[in-house]
Amino acid sequence: MRSVLRQKILKPKDVAVFSEGVNEVITDLIKRIHTLRSQEEDGETVTNVNNLFFKYSMEGVATILYESRLGCLENNIPEKTVEYIEALELMFSMFKTTMYAGAIPKWLRPFIPKPWREFCRSWDGLFKFSQIHVDNKIKDIQSQLDQGEEVKGGLLTYLLLSKELTVEEIYANMTEMLLAGVDTTSFTLSWATYLLAKHPEVQQSVYEEIVNNLGKDQVPTSDDVPKLPMIRVTLVSKLKYTQLALCHYATSYEEENFPMANDFRPERWLRKDNMDRVDNFGSIPFGYGIRSCIGKRIAELEIHLALIQLLQNFEIKISPKTKPVKAKTHGLLTPGDSINVKFADRK
Ligand code: HEM
Repeated sequence: MRSVLRQKILKPKDVAVFSEGVNEVITDLIKRIHTLRSQEEDGETVTNVNNLFFKYSMEGVATILYESRLGCLENNIPEKTVEYIEALELMFSMFKTTMYAGAIPKWLRPFIPKPWREFCRSWDGLFKFSQIHVDNKIKDIQSQLDQGEEVKGGLLTYLLLSKELTVEEIYANMTEMLLAGVDTTSFTLSWATYLLAKHPEVQQSVYEEIVNNLGKDQVPTSDDVPKLPMIRVTLVSKLKYTQLALCHYATSYEEENFPMANDFRPERWLRKDNMDRVDNFGSIPFGYGIRSCIGKRIAELEIHLALIQLLQNFEIKISPKTKPVKAKTHGLLTPGDSINVKFADRK
């Protein structure tokens, strides 16, 4: 099953085709930032970027996985999508607290039924969400075929037409990717804005690299990312904060692997001198080997393109509403509080 998906999303060039769709979502993200900051007294602060990036990630993943837009970033979110967002948020939070349910032995379940029941309910909710979108796509394809049209599309269309997976398997894979692909990406972007606001010198060098290689207004595609090593190492560096497993956290902050491990110094990954030595296996946020993250390239695309456009449009700054935010572990390592930062227009 994994090998079918692998062929379509495991290399950077596979996911390059999603650039256009992701950029459309980023246009909506930027519009949403304008709206949100206009509601604040200083006209620049956006409170709780965590929520904003949750919606961005959900919209991004839906665009790629289901080839359809949900409207998560619209000012008036369609009613159906509001229901989906609420259901998903609930599912994610329940999933985190009930994920340990799998560790409860079967014989013990009748005595403490709640965790297992909720675990199943949260999966059923996510499964249903995928089912609706996959079924919609099946109907679309059928009506195109009925009209004698050539069927073109992305990942889901390919999976449905190639018949390498059964429809049940497609539901299951889409559900797993949806679950794995929203929180992870959104937490990384939330940390990114927080750290860039707190480290203006890092932000300035990333921004200068973007302007020198791409200009202030050019919309980036995945082909542009290799020209921007600072944006790539900034992501690698921030991924030390988005961890799925505590052992990753421990190795990421080990002095032996990363001198001055607590400092946010993305340039260490550029390896200029001995102090910038890094151990490639010191931080492996996407895992390694056969079970490693299958959505790695999708996540990188969504994060790189969003960060480039955010920095082209805004200087991200500390606001009086910015509180110190620590990480808390909740299955994933998440920001422990809401992240509030300024998005000031670039002059
Ligand atoms: C910054 C974002 C992300 C991080 C840090 C991340 C990290 C990880 C890690 C550590 C694993 C477990 C690997 C292991 O067991 O060794 C994993 C698995 C997985 N990830 Fe991601 N992920 C991210 C984004 C995504 C996205 C966007 C998708 C899908 C669109 C995705 C889909 C998956 C799936 C399906 C698995 C399970 C793979 C399997 O067990 O075969 N991830 N991810």
